[in-house]
Amino acid sequence: MRALITGISGFVGQFLEKRLLRDSNIVYGTTRSQKMSNNYIILNLLSEQDIVNLLKDIKPSHIFHLAGMSNVKQSWSHRIHAIESNTIATITLLEAVKKVNRNIRVITIGSSEEYGYAATNSKPISEDSALRPISPYGVSKAAISMLVRQYYKADQLDVIHLRPFNHIGPGQSLGFVTSDFAYQIALINKNKQEKNQIEVGNLEAIRDFTDVRDIAEAYYKVAKHGKSGEIYNVCSGTGVKINKILDILLSFSDKQIEIITDESKMRPSEVPIMVGSNEKIQKQLQWAPKISLKSSLYDIYQYWLANV
Ligand code: GDD
Repeated sequence: MRALITGISGFVGQFLEKRLLRDSNIVYGTTRSQKMSNNYIILNLLSEQDIVNLLKDIKPSHIFHLAGMSNVKQSWSHRIHAIESNTIATITLLEAVKKVNRNIRVITIGSSEEYGYAATNSKPISEDSALRPISPYGVSKAAISMLVRQYYKADQLDVIHLRPFNHIGPGQSLGFVTSDFAYQIALINKNKQEKNQIEVGNLEAIRDFTDVRDIAEAYYKVAKHGKSGEIYNVCSGTGVKINKILDILLSFSDKQIEIITDESKMRPSEVPIMVGSNEKIQKQLQWAPKISLKSSLYDIYQYWLANV
């Protein structure tokens, strides 16, 4: 495959690039500002003409559209930016694809946040559920999944939309729960923090976590074998309380650590439980996560020990 990854220097982008290169695929990527490799191109995803030029130049067979805002909490204070960098940028990209070559397979990245309140019952949520997003981020991603359907039906684009649930791993930035916790515990263990205290947000939420390396594998599998016009959840199918994430991370350290609730880490609204069904991707594409939660959390903690 001749792949173009938008947002290649982001968290998932880096793992996806490695995975594609392992199979000798040709990989190009777009970034917003810093150029770290010859195959990386600085691109404004809000400029249709710039995207058209790039597509004509590198002629990708597949596009993984990873670029966009990924932080749910920040979307509350940057609502316009959420719509612009997620929804508008995706439309701009799909318009450019329409002009250059409708046979390019485009993988768009949504989120479990699209389901919002629809996910609050106890059953793992499937792809055909109603969308009832409650964060600006969730709205920006839900709009993408609706638009993708239209590009598939009305314009015959080869698009597939993915809804990853929480994905974690070494190298994820601060602002996401496992990094936020592991970073603070690592600081304490390196004696770089005055008090043996860590600040946390809502520990009662239940979420569905998958390691980023399994996520990259899923994106690759979908690109190769997924059905055009379809939507796939990418998740473990298991709910874990945030409290438990904290306990596992704390078990890697032998320090006595006090837990403090920080009100500023709470969100204006969030669903108490968000667990996905991965039946569709398992049945159609034989994808299932392989890395356990504990080993993923261990890698994250080791990453922060080496980087604080
Ligand atoms: N970030 C963070 N920091 N979250 C905390 C903390 C904390 O100190 N304490 C508790 N939480 C809770 C949040 O309230 C939320 O319920 C849960 O931990 C997970 O928060 P995040 O890691 O910030 O992830 P998210 O669920 O908001 O969003 C992530 O997953 C989505 C898919 O479900 C992101 O990766 C999104 O880009 C992705 O679409």
